[in-house]
Amino acid sequence: MRPHERIFVALDTPDPDRARALARALAGRVGGFKVGLEAFSSCGPALVGDIRSEGLPVFLDLKLHDIPNTVAGAAAAAARLGISFLTVHALGGSEMVRRAVESSAEAAARAGSSAPTVLAVTVLTSHDDPSLEILGIRGPSAAAVLRLAGIARDAGAGGVVCSPLEVARVREAFPAGTLVVPGVRPSGAAADDQARVATPESAVRAGADRIVVGRPITRAADPVAAADAIAAEIARGCPS
Ligand code: C5P
Repeated sequence: MRPHERIFVALDTPDPDRARALARALAGRVGGFKVGLEAFSSCGPALVGDIRSEGLPVFLDLKLHDIPNTVAGAAAAAARLGISFLTVHALGGSEMVRRAVESSAEAAARAGSSAPTVLAVTVLTSHDDPSLEILGIRGPSAAAVLRLAGIARDAGAGGVVCSPLEVARVREAFPAGTLVVPGVRPSGAAADDQARVATPESAVRAGADRIVVGRPITRAADPVAAADAIAAEIARGCPS
């Protein structure tokens, strides 16, 4: 994989025109776009088609979490859009993750497209140990992350979304998984509201397959130059 292909740009905007303009400008300079709840709820599935028509893969970050049958239906519908990655919550349990993997693969095959990689979200980085304990999840959050990553791996998930601080341990638990890492900031950039950040170079050195970068690219005066600079940093961490 070439360095720039490791970058997924988080399109956190409710404005479809802005999302399309960014996709057009960055086509060929990044690996794809992450469409999350805000952009998907505002712009709808048409946005996925628009990004794909620029030749870019789409990471649909819907963090599905419901009963297995409902998640299976949503994952199949998402797969029919031709996406490359889809997120589900590992906390939904192994049966839910397994059904998401199976139904998305079946739907993609029927549509003649490749199956999306189903990525499990373990513990949201907005949680800390005390807030997890209130929910009945005891022990350090890192232990919960590894336990949930193992459940997702055994249920057939293709990988995990994890923070830069967890990626090395998750890699040990899930050697063949695709590890996707947000909270990445180029050297010298503002952290914004991200509490735990890593540079592109250190994230890939720690085992990240893909990194998710939003504001350092989308709010840059020159998003293409910002993406190129991040690709250069990735190349230092992972030349191939
Ligand atoms: O703008 P920024 O680079 O901080 O965007 C990061 C993206 O990754 C956002 O879409 C955010 O929701 C997402 N994300 C994250 N931390 C997580 C999971 C997802 O920042 N633990």
